Amino acid sequence: MHTFLIRGGVPLQGDLRCPGAKNSALPVLAASLLPVGKTVIRGAPAITDTESAVRILTHLGAVCERQGRELTVDAGGDVTGVIPEDLMREMRSSFIFLGALLARTGFAEISLPGGCEIGQRPIDLHLYAMKRLGAVVTQEAGRIRCEAPNGLTGAKIHLSFPSVGATENAMIAAALAKGETAIENAAREPEISDLADCLNAMGADVRGAGGSSVRIRGVKALHPCVHRIIPDRIVAATFLLAGAITGGSVRVMDVIPGHLGPIPDLLEQTGCRVETGPDSVALTAAKRPVSVGTVRTMPYPGFPTDAQAPFTAYLGLCRGTGVVIETIFESRYKYVAELSRFGARIRTDSRMAVVEGVDAYVPANALAPDLRGGAALVLAALAAPGESRIEGARHIDRGYEPLEISLGSLGADIRRI
Ligand code: UD1
Repeated sequence: MHTFLIRGGVPLQGDLRCPGAKNSALPVLAASLLPVGKTVIRGAPAITDTESAVRILTHLGAVCERQGRELTVDAGGDVTGVIPEDLMREMRSSFIFLGALLARTGFAEISLPGGCEIGQRPIDLHLYAMKRLGAVVTQEAGRIRCEAPNGLTGAKIHLSFPSVGATENAMIAAALAKGETAIENAAREPEISDLADCLNAMGADVRGAGGSSVRIRGVKALHPCVHRIIPDRIVAATFLLAGAITGGSVRVMDVIPGHLGPIPDLLEQTGCRVETGPDSVALTAAKRPVSVGTVRTMPYPGFPTDAQAPFTAYLGLCRGTGVVIETIFESRYKYVAELSRFGARIRTDSRMAVVEGVDAYVPANALAPDLRGGAALVLAALAAPGESRIEGARHIDRGYEPLEISLGSLGADIRRI
């Protein structure tokens, strides 16, 4: 098991660059199955989730090469439509390949993505979208078969919730469908716009991405393109919080500040100084941060659920009482019990967490329950003077390039054992 050994209490100082977004790279990698030829993806983060996506692409028949943060995917040969269960289970976002397989081969056989981590993660909206586009869906013993031997046909797809993954699957599938597709109540996350930019660079006709209504006029074929992934707004937020929680001063470069939504403003409300440049955000920590009223996770442009755990770890050290309400996923407080080992005083009741700020965290040994919960525990350990251990670092590697390097570059004493 990989463990982070952290000697906390050091104020983090310095500049660092933000890598590309995991949540953009994964759908863009799936979309790279559509053109016949070599697609080049720049800024692809070196995290284990992109490695899993590359393993799936390779299994399906694509030839993938990585050089640093540049990934080349050549889907010029035959592509199979079947993803075995072990590959599906490696990554919870593997369902994103459904639309691409249907569009490319007219057939997809995949299994339900891995078990419960932060909630049930149903797939009904993905299947609804594929059915609307004309796919015949059957399910048996955890395997899902989708067939559209004569291709998909554009349709009106009204999502009952603006699901990020279902919007992306529908966009990818509709890019090669006959006629026009309209996705209503689409997710508006920046990663949706990034996927649309990539599809359009391949010759697709996608309009309105980033808004609630996305229109896709199907085209006969797509060509390969070179696409640069947008910066990871959650990683950027985590680095800023690392500066804030350690009483330090951190500048994150290569970000799109607008994508951070309410986070810079909330950090200012706690007393931090935040300066935003055209592609950077700099933070100087508050001497004694104060809590903010209520933080409620919402679809973009609201407070992102993926930043909920790291932000709560910070609120735990803010003077006063804060309230966090998680509205997107139902089991996203598993890390709270581990955070209490550091002395955090947090009570949860269903989707609500009441955070009573304490003066300081104490070092502790804790187990990362999931990706973002793990990041929250790393933040707590950075703030606690003395030596802490965070087990389960592999959860964190799914979405963060090695933290011992990035946080180490800011002066953190963090090692992997
Ligand atoms: C994506 C992100 C994830 C982020 C989440 C919400 C990727 C790879 N992952 O996940 O990091 O936390 O958006 O911003 O981009 N739902 C259904 N039925 C469905 C699909 C979803 O009920 O068919 C529900 C989910 O249970 C959840 C909500 O919709 O309550 C949001 O899920 P969704 O937006 O689909 O998240 P993901 O795409 O899985």
